[in-house]
Amino acid sequence: MSSGVRSKAERWEQRVQLGAHPLLYPAIRGLGSIRPVVRLPGLGILVSEAALVREVLMDSQRFIKNGPSGSGALWTPVVGPKALVNMDGAEHRELRRKLADLFTPGSVSAIVEPAADSLHDRLHHGLDAGGHVDLVDCVKELAGGVISRLLGVPDDAPGRLPNRELFNLGSSISSLVRLGRPTLTERQIAKGRSAVGVLAGPARAAYRKSDSQTFPGRLRALGMTEEEAMGIVSAFVMVGTETLVSFVPRLIALLADSGRIEGLVEDRSGVPSAVNEALRFTVPSPMMLRDVVSPCTLGGVAIRAGDRLLLSTVHASKSLGGFEPGIPIPPHARQLWFGAGPHFCIGMPLAMAEINATLSLLLDRYARHPWVVSSRQVSRGVLIPGYRRLELANA
Ligand code: HEM
Repeated sequence: MSSGVRSKAERWEQRVQLGAHPLLYPAIRGLGSIRPVVRLPGLGILVSEAALVREVLMDSQRFIKNGPSGSGALWTPVVGPKALVNMDGAEHRELRRKLADLFTPGSVSAIVEPAADSLHDRLHHGLDAGGHVDLVDCVKELAGGVISRLLGVPDDAPGRLPNRELFNLGSSISSLVRLGRPTLTERQIAKGRSAVGVLAGPARAAYRKSDSQTFPGRLRALGMTEEEAMGIVSAFVMVGTETLVSFVPRLIALLADSGRIEGLVEDRSGVPSAVNEALRFTVPSPMMLRDVVSPCTLGGVAIRAGDRLLLSTVHASKSLGGFEPGIPIPPHARQLWFGAGPHFCIGMPLAMAEINATLSLLLDRYARHPWVVSSRQVSRGVLIPGYRRLELANA
């Protein structure tokens, strides 16, 4: 494969990043390549090297997520105090312990398969009719289908909201966060709470029914109180939607732009390393925040209690090299795009199932009817970089 072909994939990724953060992205990448730890007055301390990012994430005594300037506390007025992302220490550990068996292969497929079936129908109908199919919209619908399972809403429930509307409700909560906005306004809190209220109605009903075939019923069976279960459901809905809608179209674009689809159609054994490398190269969750509770030095820089750390996963991961499935990843950088330590992404099994289901559908389709990326547009001014539209059409 020529480097010219590879660079098309990398150029589009660059446009995706710049569309979201035209000034911040180059600044973060530039600073990261000069110094691994740098104090940015008024903003915090930027940490850009994978080993140091991991060191911070693993040390939950010294660096906390639910501090005054991190993102965790922002959520409490909207989703209540028990949403994992806004917890630390023993209480967080205990809740994670109760959730250890949440995702078995069976429970994951019960959540993802029905949504993947709808995606299959939509994709084939659209392409068979000779038209264009917008993959971004398809993944939003898939994420909405997953939300319906997380809420425990049966498909035939009277008044059930369509998947696309469920996605919009989830997205209206997660999009309240903007970089550099340390708190939410009263209006934003009210908007978030009203979306959570709509979503929590069916989730509470499913919890109270105690049917362990539903996700809220399963949370109850795992020993969760109703409030804990509602916090978990809210956390999953708000954290798990945007990252996935950002990642899946970028994965497909990267593979198509770098000419790798045909190879994967012929030999599926390359799928896991292609997905892993696309996660490293796109970093759908580009930055994590932590507050310092006791002084220390990090990468030779003195850190004070009260400092805010900006953990630049995006630089830590992307600085390892261009998009090249199969290249070895140093141990300290492995899966850093899903975090590390106590807050490591609990939704990873679900995310991987959604990613693999979509990729597998597209590879199957390609085997019978090759398709191409026919047009696309990147999102502008968003927190999580991504495509606004990525259209596929028959080749
Ligand atoms: C490609 C997709 C995804 C990526 C890249 C991703 C990435 C991450 C990262 C980096 C964290 C750690 C944040 C931190 O330490 O500050 C995290 C936490 C979390 N993720 Fe994911 N995530 C993805 C998909 C999902 C999905 C689909 C769900 C659920 C439906 C989910 C649910 C969560 C939750 C609840 C947490 C908080 C865990 C805790 O604080 O204990 N994620 N994710």
